[in-house]
Amino acid sequence: MTEIRSIGVVGLGAMGAGIAQLAIEAGYDTVGREVTVELGQAAVARIGHFLTRKVDKGRLEQGHRDAAVSRLSTTVDLDALADCDLVIEAIVEELEPKRALFAELDRICRPDAILATNTSALSVTEIAAATTRPERVVGMHFFNPAPLMPLVEIVQAELTADEAAEAASVVGARFGKEVVRCHDTPGFVVNRVLIPLLNDCLRVLDEARVTPEALDVAMKNGAGWPMGPCTLVDLVGIDVHVHASEALYEKLREPRMAPPPRLVAMKNAGLLGRKSGRGFYTYD
Ligand SMILES: NC(=O)c1ccc[n+]([C@@H]2O[C@H](COP(=O)([O-])OP(=O)(O)OC[C@H]3O[C@@H](n4cnc5c(N)ncnc54)[C@H](O)[C@@H]3O)[C@@H](O)[C@H]2O)c1
Repeated sequence: MTEIRSIGVVGLGAMGAGIAQLAIEAGYDTVGREVTVELGQAAVARIGHFLTRKVDKGRLEQGHRDAAVSRLSTTVDLDALADCDLVIEAIVEELEPKRALFAELDRICRPDAILATNTSALSVTEIAAATTRPERVVGMHFFNPAPLMPLVEIVQAELTADEAAEAASVVGARFGKEVVRCHDTPGFVVNRVLIPLLNDCLRVLDEARVTPEALDVAMKNGAGWPMGPCTLVDLVGIDVHVHASEALYEKLREPRMAPPPRLVAMKNAGLLGRKSGRGFYTYD
């Protein structure tokens, strides 16, 4: 099986920076690619800050923190990823930019390198088809925030070789994640279940005329959820949830997948949840 020693991460936004943090903490030499030097530097600063907080909380030794940070470099030049054994893509959630990037990575990276996408809702098979090596393309779907959420779904596309999925699973395990392997179907495992379920919850707000607070109390205490659905959607981001619902609805055409109109209205009004300071709840 391919031994992964070095990792490239393309896109150091919310997910990519978290993935790069996991990679350096797990001991991999890591190159992160952003579109500008400033965005790359900002991501390095965020990662350094999170690792310092872990030291402050006594969950990481200072020496390990410094060694991890020294394993990370950033670039704006995609060619700098030529020697990576595994490249994980975490750019915008749109098919054409991802396909264009994979075609470029296919040209730049060694033929045996594995190319992974962190897409939530796009088809890994369609992304893989932009390369000449679809057997080396796999989905590695992390959850937000990547350093804290314990799961990674390893998604085997139509032509992914077992060996490539296995190599990605080994990396996921070395990142300290619970690894679940699945095939490339819309929403994979968690989102296929969670998105329509959350949409049902939010429709109940109007149908049963309950407040967000009451719905959260009901699901926490009656269904054993660790967090109520309104709190969860606020945390995920109303825009992210609406986008994912629309993508699943487009693929599966099941009415439950479509975002509830109330949520679309919130998104259009800029009530995006925790990140905008206001969603179902108000945040400081
Ligand atoms: N946010 C989530 O909850 C979540 C969870 C799981 C998976 N995902 C998936 O992860 C991916 C990234 O999402 P995000 O929330 O981190 O987005 P984000 O907008 O925070 O980050 C995307 C980053 O990619 C950079 N970028 C865009 N094109 C690039 C390119 N060609 N090369 C290098 N960098 C480029 C942007 O500058 C930006 O910093 C998406 O596919 C998304 O669906 C997101």
